[in-house]
Amino acid sequence: MFDLILRQANLPDGRKGLDIAISGSKISEIAPRIEARAREEIDATDRLVTPPFIDPHFHMDATLSLGLPRMNRSGTLLEGIALWGELRPTLTVDALVSRALKYCDLAVTQGLLAVRTHVDTSDPRLVTVEAMLEVKRLVAPYLDLQLVAFPQDGYYRAKDGVSSLNRALDMGVDIVGGIPHFERTMDEGRASVEALCRIAADRGLPVDMHCDETDDPLSRHVETLAAETVRFGLQGRVAGSHLTSMHSMDNYYVSKLIPLMAEAQMSVIPNPLINIMLQGRHDAYPKRRGMTRVRELMAAGLNVSFGHDCVMDPWYSMGSGDMLEVGHMAIHVAQMASLDEKAAIFQALTVNSAKTMGLEGYGLEVGCNADLVLLQARDPAEALRLKAVKLAVIRRGRVIARTPARVGQLFLDGRPEAVDASQGFAPDY
Ligand code: FE2
Repeated sequence: MFDLILRQANLPDGRKGLDIAISGSKISEIAPRIEARAREEIDATDRLVTPPFIDPHFHMDATLSLGLPRMNRSGTLLEGIALWGELRPTLTVDALVSRALKYCDLAVTQGLLAVRTHVDTSDPRLVTVEAMLEVKRLVAPYLDLQLVAFPQDGYYRAKDGVSSLNRALDMGVDIVGGIPHFERTMDEGRASVEALCRIAADRGLPVDMHCDETDDPLSRHVETLAAETVRFGLQGRVAGSHLTSMHSMDNYYVSKLIPLMAEAQMSVIPNPLINIMLQGRHDAYPKRRGMTRVRELMAAGLNVSFGHDCVMDPWYSMGSGDMLEVGHMAIHVAQMASLDEKAAIFQALTVNSAKTMGLEGYGLEVGCNADLVLLQARDPAEALRLKAVKLAVIRRGRVIARTPARVGQLFLDGRPEAVDASQGFAPDY
């Protein structure tokens, strides 16, 4: 007798009609037909079952603060940073924890069960760090939260930037962050990358930097980040977030840069929603898209995952905690619409993100954690197209969220009474 069986599920790798049996917190069997019964069974016939979505780049300390203390009028990254600077002195641990927990509730219903959040260390009070450490502890039973020490106002540029970031790491923050393009000069940006990689090497921590989040093609801190990764022996432990300047770089330069990033085994984290919203703001027409070179980086073997980055905060007034919305935008901005490319985008939202975050026990194989999401879609391409409803979310073998299927009622003579966009619309591939 198993604890839970999902019957006749489709898997992201294209296998169809499989039963997935769970014992305790682990997947214990996957087979076309499991005769044994379970305490609870879920009919997944012709539905996609996937390991959970993962967001490798987020700002949990800023989320749901939209409108505080006022709205971003220009819509730019720089006004967003200035606005956050106004709000920051008024932040309290209680308010930060409350907003973050509310976001995590939403995330769970969206099948989003692991998040890497950058935590602003610019205010020496470090209430953001205190709050996010508390949130990490509170959500641990249902959501894996990783914290990055993020010097939003600059490691060197902010008055107490150096000491505050190091104190945050002393308090237990997991990862070293940075923002080299926001330092006062290119040279201080380069120096910050070197210093932060040295800290990571000394402390045995990973690195995840906001890097070159600009349209300036000469913002080349990613090159320094890759070189310092190799120099300090941090291969496989370093992520470059955003990397939007790569969109605008000279192709010849990029032909040297991408192999260097591959040598560093760097993870790459574009943030399609925020990139398409914030980049190209100084352009007239034509306007650049400003997302990094996803297709080329994937082709070079780099681990590419996608972040949500922001939900209803000074930088981005939209967002829903749905990583399929992130993937949906990635498909458009990267112009990756073939079936194989959609499969690669779906993999980036799941398997690649798990690799970025170094999650153990992740996957849809026997012995993996029984963390699964049942979608109102037949396959990854359809899930992305429909931004499919997450019908059931399972964490360590327990159903922790359910959402009813989206079915429209129709009141037309001679037409069907109900319309389910996941039934009978897409061709059989
Ligand atoms: Fe960010």
